[in-house]
Amino acid sequence: MAFLAFEGMDGVGKTTLIQLFENILQKRKFPYISTREPGGTRLGEELRSLLLSSDSKEDRLTAKAELLLYQAARAQHVESKIQPALKKNNWVLCDRFTASSLAFQAGGGKINSKDVERLNKFATEGTEPDLWVLLDLSPDEAVKRIEKRLQKSNLDLKKDHFESQGKGFFKSVRDTYLKLAKKSPNKWMILDANEDPKRMIQQLEERLKKKGYL
Ligand code: TYD
Repeated sequence: MAFLAFEGMDGVGKTTLIQLFENILQKRKFPYISTREPGGTRLGEELRSLLLSSDSKEDRLTAKAELLLYQAARAQHVESKIQPALKKNNWVLCDRFTASSLAFQAGGGKINSKDVERLNKFATEGTEPDLWVLLDLSPDEAVKRIEKRLQKSNLDLKKDHFESQGKGFFKSVRDTYLKLAKKSPNKWMILDANEDPKRMIQQLEERLKKKGYL
């Protein structure tokens, strides 16, 4: 059993990787939950739609309000969903976790990283993933993928959200992730998001086997 968090810029393919990993757990008949941030609970999902639509010009959230909403969603999520699953020895696959706040609200945003760290601890009561899986992609490629995805779908909400971010933002987000990963190589695994997802999943499996989780 392990708690895995999947991180990276938007459009890097976290969803596909998580689905492939779910197949592995299903085949082995391991109990698991698959969840996401912001989200995972009713409150979290409501906050998610609010957060992802909040860049509309007339009603922009301030940086502090935004961070606190992510943390409110997280506090609810950890206490009511993640901790109970871990107590039952279920695997937990989480699409984004506290590192997203460090990367997006501190790295790419206006908040001091110490403040984010403090709030992350408060919201999670120190509950941490056993392994962070970073899907790494260059800012150029990330922007391309997001544009492609937005063209295909009609995600007006998200369009506002992303169009307000420049390439510099994506670069800071990526740099923050890479810094976190390099600081704790035992806890982080960096995957090249340009690779075939099947190859990525093999690498993840190998790593988990080595650590004794699989
Ligand atoms: P995500 O679910 O990855 O969206 P998608 O599947 O479309 O890539 O992420 C939603 C957005 O929330 C993403 O832009 C990053 C942002 N986010 C933060 O800024 N801070 C946080 O703490 C979290 C959890 C997410």
